[in-house]
Amino acid sequence: MNREEQFKYLENLNRESKKGGGEKRIAAQHEKGKLTARERIDLLVDEGTFVEIDALVRHRSKDFGLEKQRFLGDGVITGYGYVNARLVYIFSQDFTIFGGSLSEAFAEKICKIMDQAMKVGAPVIGLNDSGGARIQEGVVSLGGYADIFLRNTLASGVIPQISAVMGPCAGGAVYSPAITDFIFMVKNTSYMFVTGPNVVKTVTHEEVTSESLGGALTHGSKSGVSHFSCENELDAIEKIKTLLNYIPSNNLEDPPKINCTDPVDRADNKLDTFIPEDSSQPYDMKEIIHLIMDDNEFFEVHSEYAQNIIAGFSRLNGFSVGIIANQPAVLAGVLDIDASIKAARFIRFCDAFNIPIITFVDVPGFLPGTTQEWGGIIKHGAKLLYAYCEATVPKITVITRKAYGGAYDVMSSKHIRADVNFAWPMAEIAVMGPKGAAEIIFRNEIKKSKDPEKTLAKKEMEYREKFANPYLAAERGYIDEVIRPKETRFKLIQSLIMLENKADTNPKKKHGNIPL
Ligand code: HXC
Repeated sequence: MNREEQFKYLENLNRESKKGGGEKRIAAQHEKGKLTARERIDLLVDEGTFVEIDALVRHRSKDFGLEKQRFLGDGVITGYGYVNARLVYIFSQDFTIFGGSLSEAFAEKICKIMDQAMKVGAPVIGLNDSGGARIQEGVVSLGGYADIFLRNTLASGVIPQISAVMGPCAGGAVYSPAITDFIFMVKNTSYMFVTGPNVVKTVTHEEVTSESLGGALTHGSKSGVSHFSCENELDAIEKIKTLLNYIPSNNLEDPPKINCTDPVDRADNKLDTFIPEDSSQPYDMKEIIHLIMDDNEFFEVHSEYAQNIIAGFSRLNGFSVGIIANQPAVLAGVLDIDASIKAARFIRFCDAFNIPIITFVDVPGFLPGTTQEWGGIIKHGAKLLYAYCEATVPKITVITRKAYGGAYDVMSSKHIRADVNFAWPMAEIAVMGPKGAAEIIFRNEIKKSKDPEKTLAKKEMEYREKFANPYLAAERGYIDEVIRPKETRFKLIQSLIMLENKADTNPKKKHGNIPL
C-alpha cells in the first residue's frame, strides 16, 4: 500500500469500528428503550473528551462459526474521558455485538483499562449490558471474568468503582458489579440475577418475571444489591455524574471541595422546634439533614432499602461529607440486619476514600425478635460497630433524641473514636427507654403499690429526669457539647475545619476480620 492507501485503510477501519453490530441490531436496541454503548459514553463524558483504546481488537475464536464474525472492538468499548473535567476510565458493553457477551479479548480490554486506572488513580465506570459469558468460547470466557473479578477486588478501596446495569447482567457476571462500590440500575430495562426465571422455575417451581426476580426495584428495595434505581438511562448517567462530584479519584486524594455560598452560620429556627415534645412521636430525619446541609442538598444512597437508616452524601461549607442517620419516621429508627449492613458498607466506602462521616442519632435500640436473631443480627449489627470502630476519617456525631443501649455505643459514640460528639438538649442517652427501665428496676415497688399504673408512670418520670437526658454523658465527656438544634450547621462546620488535618491509624495488619 502506498501512503495514501495506508491512511485510507486506517480511516475505513476506524469508521467500521464505530458501527457496532450494524444498523439492524442498533435499531433493535433502541426499540427496547436502550441506548447504544457509544451513546451512553457520549452522555457520560464531557463533550469530545472520550479517547477510545483497543478499538481494533478482535476475538481469536475459531469455533461455532465465530471465525466468520470478527467485529472490531469485540463487543466492548473501552477508554478514558473526563466527567466535569475529572479523569475517569470507562468500559461500555455493546449488546449489538454478540449480545455484549464476554470473550477472552473483551475481558482483556476491560482488564487493560482497569490496570491503567489503578496506576493513574482514577475511577472506573462500567456500563453493563451483556448476555454473559460468550458461550462459544467456553472456559476462556470464564477465565476472562475471573481476571476482572480479581482486579475489582484489588482495586477496591484504591479507586472508586461504579457499575451501571443497563440491560441483562446474569450468572457469574453479576459478581463484578457486586464487588464495585455502587450499582445503578435502570427500571424496566435492566436485571441482575445469578439464575434466570427459567432455571428458577425448574428448581423451585416459582414463576417469576425477570423484572420481579432481579429488576431495579427488586434490587433497590428488597435485596439491597443496587444503590440507585433510575427512571431511565439518562437519569442513571446524571446520577453517576452527581456521585462523582462527592468522591475523590483515589484513596490518596481528598474529595473535591467546592465553593460554598450558603452562610456557615446559617441557623434555621425551624430546627429548634422540629423534634416533637412527645418523644414517642416520629419525625422525618431527612428534613433535618436538608435544613442543615449546604443549600439544603442531600444525595441519598440506597434510598429505597432499609429506610430506617439514611445514608448519603452532602456538603458542609463545600466539604464533601458522608451522612448516616437513624430515621425515626420508619420503624422508629430501630437498627436491624438490613440497616446495619447498609450503613456499614457506606461507612467503609467513606473511610476508604477520605470522606468525613457525620452521624445523626435517634435510635431506640436493636430490633428484637426471632427473625432478627435467627437472621444473625448479632453478626450483622457487629458489621456496623466494626465499620465505625475502624474508620479513621473525621467522625462527628449529633444525638438529636434517643440513644439507647448498645445502639448508643454503635452509632459513632465517643468510645469508638468519634472526634466530636454533640447532643441536642432533648437527647435521651441511657441503657434503655424510661418505661422499660422503670418496669425492671422498680418491679417490686410497682407490684406492691395500690395503683401500679400510677406508680409506673411516676417511676418512669423519675428515671427520665435522672437518666434520659444528655447531661450525665456530658459530665463524663462522652458528649463534648450540648447544643441548640439551630446551631448544628455552624458547629458541624467548625468541627470539620478543626479536623481537616486529622491523622489516625489502625494497628498494622494484613487485614481485619469483619464479621461477614
Ligand atoms: C454468545 C450471545 C450470548 C452469549 C446473547 N448472544 N447472549 N452470544 N454468548 N452469552 C447473542 C445472541 O445469539 C444474539 O445474536 C444476540 O446476542 C442478541 O441476543 P438475543 O437473544 O436476540 O437478545 P434478547 O432477546 O434481548 O435476549 C437477551 C438474553 C439472551 C436474555 C441475554 O440472549 C440470552 O439468554 N442469552 C444467553 C444468556 C446466557 O445463558 N449466558 C451465559 C450465562 S452463564 P444474533 O447474532 O442473533 O444477533 C455466564 C457465566 C459467567 O455468563 C460466569 C462468570 C464467572
